[in-house]
Amino acid sequence: MSYLYYVMTMPGLETIAFSEIHARFADAELVKFSRGIALFRTAASPAELLELRTVEDVFVTLAHIKSLGPGRDALRVVHGATLNANVNEALTLWRRAHHGSLPKTWRVVSQKSGYHEFRRIDAGESVGAALQRNLPRGMRLVKDDADIEFWVWISGSEVLIGVRLSDATMRHRHYKQEHLPASLRPTIAAAMCVLSRPTAQDIVLDPLCGAGTILIERGLAEVPYEALLGGDLREEAVTVAQRNARHARVEMTLKTWDARSLPLEEGSVTRIITNLPFGKQIGTPEKNVKLYKDLAHEFRRVSRPDGLLVALTSENRVWEAALREQNWRITKKVVLVVLGQPASIFVAARA
Ligand SMILES: C[S@@+](CC[C@H](N)C(=O)[O-])C[C@H]1O[C@@H](n2cnc3c(N)ncnc32)[C@H](O)[C@@H]1O
Repeated sequence: MSYLYYVMTMPGLETIAFSEIHARFADAELVKFSRGIALFRTAASPAELLELRTVEDVFVTLAHIKSLGPGRDALRVVHGATLNANVNEALTLWRRAHHGSLPKTWRVVSQKSGYHEFRRIDAGESVGAALQRNLPRGMRLVKDDADIEFWVWISGSEVLIGVRLSDATMRHRHYKQEHLPASLRPTIAAAMCVLSRPTAQDIVLDPLCGAGTILIERGLAEVPYEALLGGDLREEAVTVAQRNARHARVEMTLKTWDARSLPLEEGSVTRIITNLPFGKQIGTPEKNVKLYKDLAHEFRRVSRPDGLLVALTSENRVWEAALREQNWRITKKVVLVVLGQPASIFVAARA
């Protein structure tokens, strides 16, 4: 039996998320992409869907409305769609994702973008009023910390109403016990690993590893690897990365080093996956130009001729120029939003 699910992703990562979904569940059929959303059908179990690494949250769909008007009568449409939804089936799937436990409390979370003659909260209340009529007796509506959450997402004329199967540990991960400022969101790190076209022969390097997120995500991906290597200029970052790797039970070799002159042999790594310092993290634009140029040069030296370089930055022009100058060829660019600012993931091969 297949169900209609949707996932929420960091905006820009929808297609990568669906490629992960399709790689894991061959029967998965895409219904639609929207910004930060992939709607699809599959017979995969909720527990299997919670193993996904490139998505922030997983939902089972109660209703999908494609042409909601902007006026207040839209609230009646949202209410009616919730009344008609198969809430019992969604509750069964939620219980399967939560080891059979029964939810005692519930709440509604609403998100809205675009122009409408009603507020986000009004849409949430319309859904809540309908749920009150068709949820089992004994379940209590609460403001926070509910066992089960019903989410309403409205973007212009499109609406998704669903039951959230995931919780915050899906996006934040259990292993991230130690945080550093500018540490990368795990789902973005996982998407970068997908973009690196992983193989079992990979010798993966993150030369500016910070809290170690990228290497840990590569270590936890389904595709095996030969080795994981990383380092950072700051000793504190290396210590944090070591602790996080231990929590994640991923083995890697970490060192304190300057990524501009790595203690690695020429042509010794097959994949470089890294999150470059950008924006406020670096002093002046001139420093940036020099740093990126030195890094692109050193990355080329340590990379095998058939190696791939996957790097995230918001300094697009500076990185593109550095790659060109050091004979890297950009094969793919994915645009996304990181910490509220536009950024890109560049995939490059040796020219
Ligand atoms: C954007 S952060 C990386 C965050 C990391 N991906 C994470 O998840 O925590 C950039 C890192 O580059 C490091 N760094 C800056 N210049 C460096 C250099 N020349 N060599 C090595 N590391 C450097 C910083 O200390 C910082 O930890």
